[in-house]
Amino acid sequence: AGTILPQVAGSELVSQQTGSTVSKEVTVLFGSQTGNAQGLAEKVKATLQERGFQATLAPMNEFKANSIKKVHNLLILVSTHGEGDPPDNALSFYEFLHGRRAPQLKDLRFSVLSLGDSSYEFFCKTGKDFDKRLEELGAQRLYPRFDCDLDYDEPAAEWLEGVLNSLSEAKAEEAFSPLVPVGAGVAAEQSVYSRTNPFKAEILENINLNGRGSNKETRHLELSLEGSNLEFEPGDSLGIYPENEPELVDLIIQKMNWNPDETITVNKQGETRSLRESLISYYEVTVLTKPLLQKAAELTSDEQLQQLISPEKEEELRAYIEGRDLLDLVQDFNFAEVPASTFVSILRKMPARLYSISSSLRANPDEVHLTIGTVRYDAHGRSRKGVCSIQCAERLQPGDYLPVYIQRNQNFKLPANPDTPIIMIGPGTGAAPFRAFLQEREELAAQGKTWLFFGDQHFVTDFLYQTEWQQWLKKDVLTRMDVAFSRDTEEKVYVQHRMLENSKDLYQWLEEGAVVYICGDEKNMAHDVHETLIRIIEQEGGVSREQAEAYLAGMQQQKRYQRDVY
Ligand code: 2AM
Repeated sequence: AGTILPQVAGSELVSQQTGSTVSKEVTVLFGSQTGNAQGLAEKVKATLQERGFQATLAPMNEFKANSIKKVHNLLILVSTHGEGDPPDNALSFYEFLHGRRAPQLKDLRFSVLSLGDSSYEFFCKTGKDFDKRLEELGAQRLYPRFDCDLDYDEPAAEWLEGVLNSLSEAKAEEAFSPLVPVGAGVAAEQSVYSRTNPFKAEILENINLNGRGSNKETRHLELSLEGSNLEFEPGDSLGIYPENEPELVDLIIQKMNWNPDETITVNKQGETRSLRESLISYYEVTVLTKPLLQKAAELTSDEQLQQLISPEKEEELRAYIEGRDLLDLVQDFNFAEVPASTFVSILRKMPARLYSISSSLRANPDEVHLTIGTVRYDAHGRSRKGVCSIQCAERLQPGDYLPVYIQRNQNFKLPANPDTPIIMIGPGTGAAPFRAFLQEREELAAQGKTWLFFGDQHFVTDFLYQTEWQQWLKKDVLTRMDVAFSRDTEEKVYVQHRMLENSKDLYQWLEEGAVVYICGDEKNMAHDVHETLIRIIEQEGGVSREQAEAYLAGMQQQKRYQRDVY
């Protein structure tokens, strides 16, 4: 007994079992876009400290990359985005380690926890890359990498337990307390509500912001946080646990000949719900993933499915999964006789959806507002609907409730100094956090200049929050606004065209220390706007492309270039 982390003064621990020395210092680095990896990293740090380690915690971009040589124990928690990209605040460290100047790290011991979404092809790629690269640089893995899917709490807790065991080089004889439950106590908020214990928020208002004839439907939702003690700042997001469409669930149940009232155990605590309720609220049925199909194949002898998951058919599998859901799966392959409880056990838990909050708590106490673009499209001969956005658009009225939690986002924050100028680029629903920013700046009577670039398809139907921006212009809360309506003219105009037209002024603002924010579509818009910023700096600063990139990278380092993209 007594082999767990004896409390020894100084920076070395001596494992009583092996007698070898272990550094007590642990560096925890995270790369986080939406805040999940950051939240976990904070809990890891707290747990390490409880166990007598000296833990330091930093986002990767605030860690002096070269000092990695002095680190003995390194824990990396990092998520992956888009097409396998590192989060913004992991980029510089990622590039440093993968570059030619990366040092040999023979004295380093490390472990990686990667977060991702198995419905994406490059699942957990950033974590995998770090893991592989650290090994290449000579570092020793103190515990194997864990790749976590959307439901990451349990694997993350297991990983931490393993890491702690390895760190202490002693066999734990007591179970370590799990990572998640309340009491880990790092979250600043006093609210008892969290991602794992969401608050049921009442809908106060739910309207369509688009005018008649628009191609789009954008819902403005107002929710009550009264009695929750939940707090947030402009730039934070709201997590929502949505419900699947009952009609879709019924079709799946019918196809499988299941009994909708069959009792299903929905969590480790042994809570039960009817099958129908389980499929509506507790499980994901609208997305297929490779791991899901592999598990499904074990439930049937259907030859076609066995073929599809064979290693040679990787491309076909990817193509099949794309845009299909559980109803397609049970229609396309033979799962006759598979019991509901067996099938449900291979499904992913319903993941929460994150939306950038579009109100300020200062301006609207006890409320949180959202700006949600509805998702509807056709695929594989059937009309498809976004789970959360369509629930909001079609099935939620004032008086109904939604389970929600606050997701902090330290990567998208107003400057501490209210006199600092800000440039906000947010076409479409990307405008959401900027409504919160301006509400906040108005409330604070902030003096800093503000500049909004907004764009959407048509002026008449799609100018989201038009009257609010115009009021703020009048009151000088908003200093400038430039808009781009892409489908009102023969040739498309986008926000970046407006930026270019105003490149002199924009560069002037940058030189005055403005913070630039981009929110909205990642793949096209944010990428093009990024390119445009480089071009403007090149042109107006009279520098080379490399220098312009360095200028922007410098801004990013100083948190003067922040993105909330999806
Ligand atoms: P479009 O739909 O006419 O192509 C909000 O969705 C606005 O962003 C729309 O006006 C949309 O134009 C526009 N948009 C589409 N692609 C874009 C891009 N690459 N950069 C900037 N805006 C874009």
